[in-house]
Amino acid sequence: MKVIRTRKELEEYVAPYRQAGSSVALVPTMGALHAGHISLMRRAVAENDITVASVFVNPTQFNDKRDLEAYPRTEEADFRLLDEAGVSAVFAPAVDEVYPPEEAEREKHTFDLGRVAEVMEGAYRPGHFQGVAQIVSKLLRLASPDRAYFGEKDFQQIAVIRRMTETEGINVEIVACPICRESDGLALSSRNVRLTPSQRAVAPGIFRVLAESVGYSRDHSVRQTREYVESRVNALPECKVEYFSIVAADTLEDAGSWDCADRITGCITVYCGDVRLIDNITYRPLQQA
Ligand code: PAF
Repeated sequence: MKVIRTRKELEEYVAPYRQAGSSVALVPTMGALHAGHISLMRRAVAENDITVASVFVNPTQFNDKRDLEAYPRTEEADFRLLDEAGVSAVFAPAVDEVYPPEEAEREKHTFDLGRVAEVMEGAYRPGHFQGVAQIVSKLLRLASPDRAYFGEKDFQQIAVIRRMTETEGINVEIVACPICRESDGLALSSRNVRLTPSQRAVAPGIFRVLAESVGYSRDHSVRQTREYVESRVNALPECKVEYFSIVAADTLEDAGSWDCADRITGCITVYCGDVRLIDNITYRPLQQA
């Protein structure tokens, strides 16, 4: 696997494949890779001629400086996992390479991300999606992939990135991949390593409540289901729901009833101690029990 540190090298690496008509995949990450990331890599490797991963903790998407500083960084182990997964090259630049100080003026571009970026994470993490759009648009322009792969744990992020590629005129297929979970149900996240043993023991309760609420939703309203989830997750030791929204999956507008959209998803953010965990579940279409 080739390790690429500069933007120029990345463009030069991809160019001959593009000229030869080979299919190129991009899998952007912030490192601290786990089995969820690796499932994205394996799918990209299976579906494309070459797969480029990126490992870059993007400072512009962190609205909390402490969260940025605490974000785990495990480059050596990440590279080993990427290599084993069959990734062709990894782009792992320094911050100044991605955001050179002399280009700071040019960077002051506000992305038109529409309503999908205003709700949920958009409301609780001001500026977060502008930062995500900034880095993902840069990576897509440098690597010019046919497909880019993202995990559905960050459900809203996928809607925002789709919108960004449309408004920026970037021609790429955005591939959404299912959430990977621990055997006890906890959604895989780079932040899980920051949970204390007691928090790690209660955190699977978040998904357990979400899963139970699907059955509950069969004969209760959207509002009742929201209250069911909020009260039960808040009852877990050390857990505090920041928000739980049940939304139409395409517009991310609050669902007024179960038949307001073809697909309806519940998106939750929970502080488990000081670790911010997110997860989501599909309510409609109902899965056969
Ligand atoms: O989902 C993430 O890890 C990040 O938001 C992404 C897409 C790699 C951009 O920094």
